[in-house]
Amino acid sequence: MERKRNIIVGQSGGPTAVINSSLAGVYKTAKERGFHKVYGMLHGIQGLLDEQYVDLSTQIHSDMDIELLKRTPSAFLGSCRYKLPEIHENIEIYERIFEILDKLDIETFIYIGGNDSMDTIKKLSDYAIIKGHSQKFLGVPKTIDNDLALTDHTPGFGSAAKYIAASTKEVIRDALGLTYHKDMITIIEIMGRNAGWLTGATALAKTEECDGPDLIYLPEIPFDIDKFLEKTKELLKKKESIVIAVSEGIKLADGRYVCELSGGADYVDAFGHKQLQGTATYLANYLGAEIGCKTRSIEFSTLQRSASHMASRVDVNEAFMVGGAAVKAADEGDNGKMVVIARVSDDPYMSIYDVHRIANNEKTVPREWVNEEGNYVTDDFINYIEPLIQGDYQPFMVNGLPQHLVLKEV
Ligand code: F6P
Repeated sequence: MERKRNIIVGQSGGPTAVINSSLAGVYKTAKERGFHKVYGMLHGIQGLLDEQYVDLSTQIHSDMDIELLKRTPSAFLGSCRYKLPEIHENIEIYERIFEILDKLDIETFIYIGGNDSMDTIKKLSDYAIIKGHSQKFLGVPKTIDNDLALTDHTPGFGSAAKYIAASTKEVIRDALGLTYHKDMITIIEIMGRNAGWLTGATALAKTEECDGPDLIYLPEIPFDIDKFLEKTKELLKKKESIVIAVSEGIKLADGRYVCELSGGADYVDAFGHKQLQGTATYLANYLGAEIGCKTRSIEFSTLQRSASHMASRVDVNEAFMVGGAAVKAADEGDNGKMVVIARVSDDPYMSIYDVHRIANNEKTVPREWVNEEGNYVTDDFINYIEPLIQGDYQPFMVNGLPQHLVLKEV
């Protein structure tokens, strides 16, 4: 067998509870397929430009380490939000990256990320083709937001949805216990930028013993603050405790984010994304002032993407498999592509992993999966998510807490 050269893998964008399961899948398959060295970029392409990388065999020594990595949240290698310039804008950056790849004898470059990270795969593979470089560039999908096009869903989403649904149930129970002849409104803020997949997942909290949230507002539907107040008052006539789920990215009809009304969203990242936070607090204060009852705002914030103790087994396994599929695809000659998941069946849930086109647009929740009033999701939406939150992936508990694999200095 011809001796393989080396492979390098990086992680980019917002982390998830299972992003390291994809890293484990890349590592395991690369080793099985006979790659010589498996390098990890530290902090993605940004770190690579500073020649920050690690030989992963100094970090992963056994199958137990692989299992631990699969149970470790956040980006094991460190992440970045770094936008490569267009090739014609700054060719020197590309020359520098390829100089480093050549120096490390890299044959395959794998990037685990979302929309913005796939932009990196696209640009690097374009450059390689234009300049006649032999390296292959493959993308592994990852994002809690579930907004990648072409793939049925994205690894990271199922686990975040599971945590959100479970926590919403717990918040609802807590709020019910607090109200006795006293009104209370609880507003939960969920991540997802311009896509409401995760916010809609709060509807899964509706079970035999729980009514679920009372209202759900997704960023896809313009938010009308007067109607929101009216609706809340109407509900308070019927029940004392109301729980409302809002996306961090809900916007008014004029395009302003609700969180901007309180002066939030000042920070903008390299891809032009505003940092969204403060929506729930703004709305809780607003309702408190208008209605005069107790309110509470809760931001699930980074908890929803790092709760590996609540990971979905389906998600962990899929994340692992898409990592491996990318290595296999590159090894068999694919370039400039991303692995996608196609749904074969809902019941029993089955999917396949395929290499497809690069994702370059945002997949949002279809209008028909939101009710007419724009304040709840439909059964079709719930049926779509349900298979993705199934099963557990129990952490390895040490002294009562989940154990993680962390990068060691070598
Ligand atoms: O892109 C994933 C995501 O978790 C979004 O849901 C959220 O808006 C964003 O990242 C937050 O990014 P950061 O942690 O860089 O502020």
